[in-house]
Amino acid sequence: AKDLRQLAQQHGIKIGTAVDIAALRDEPDYRQRLNREFTHVTAENAMKWESVEPERGVYTWDDADALVENARRNHQQIRGHTLLWHNQLPAWLTSGVEDGTIDATELREILREHITTQVRRYKGKIRAWDVVNEVVEEDGSLRQSIWLQHLGPGYIADAFRWAHRADPHARLFINDYNLEWNAPKIETTLSIVKDLKAQGVPIHGIGFQGHLGIQYDYPADWANVMRRFADLGLEVAITELDVRMVLPVTPEKLATQAEYYRRALTDCLSVRACREMTVWGFTDRHSWVPGWFEGEGAATLLDENLAPKPAYKALLAVR
Ligand code: XIL
Repeated sequence: AKDLRQLAQQHGIKIGTAVDIAALRDEPDYRQRLNREFTHVTAENAMKWESVEPERGVYTWDDADALVENARRNHQQIRGHTLLWHNQLPAWLTSGVEDGTIDATELREILREHITTQVRRYKGKIRAWDVVNEVVEEDGSLRQSIWLQHLGPGYIADAFRWAHRADPHARLFINDYNLEWNAPKIETTLSIVKDLKAQGVPIHGIGFQGHLGIQYDYPADWANVMRRFADLGLEVAITELDVRMVLPVTPEKLATQAEYYRRALTDCLSVRACREMTVWGFTDRHSWVPGWFEGEGAATLLDENLAPKPAYKALLAVR
């Protein structure tokens, strides 16, 4: 394949990326590369709660709309990210819950209203939604979030039902990190999915974030984990792939990184239900890694100048 769009076509999957809206607006080379290479896009931040509803009941859609409009013009499908998370919540919501001015009944209503409003706005335009994000802890317990604390575990089923009602054609996903290898997390997530299915809750997919690092072993069992979810009838997606390294960059580290990216694609291609592989940024110019992992970086396919790294070439070479 000559680029990622061709690669996606060749293998019959979608290859996506997270999009930085400021870069999309301000950097022509970023925009051109994005639109040339990718068949699927996710807003890196623009569809999160704090971005779309910074004041209660006051929605700011400009950035999210810009992504949706750019995708329409460039024949890209969209993953909506994310309707319910414990991070990047607006201050009015977290402080209201904390000081007791928002009680449980009201919180549930706020969640319902938020999900309904956001999903309805983009009805028919979003292929898949990350309905709930990171709802399981590393030890396999349900995440201690305001949602669990105030609404109880039923909030997960509610979120899927509300999203489905607002756009019956959208594919609804549960999304998490370390699900590539962490056994307690895998088992709990499988049982959540089974429970939801048994109750007739509309859930259609599992998202593996795929935030990897070359200082850790590649998650060798990943394809089997994908298959366990596929066996429950779910579509599988890699939703936030990146492969970070401890700086400085060396040719050896880049070669290892290339191998991790290649294996992630190969794992996805080995599972029929895996239909999408999305990277969390496509250039080291715009990646969350340096800001979040001290001393680490260079996690994406292209360098700061958009020159292909070995990882990019390794993906194109996959037959
Ligand atoms: C990250 C963004 O990349 C950063 O720009 C932001 O500051 C924090 O969130 N898991 C997720 C993503 O589901 O939403 C996170 O994105 C990365 C981890």
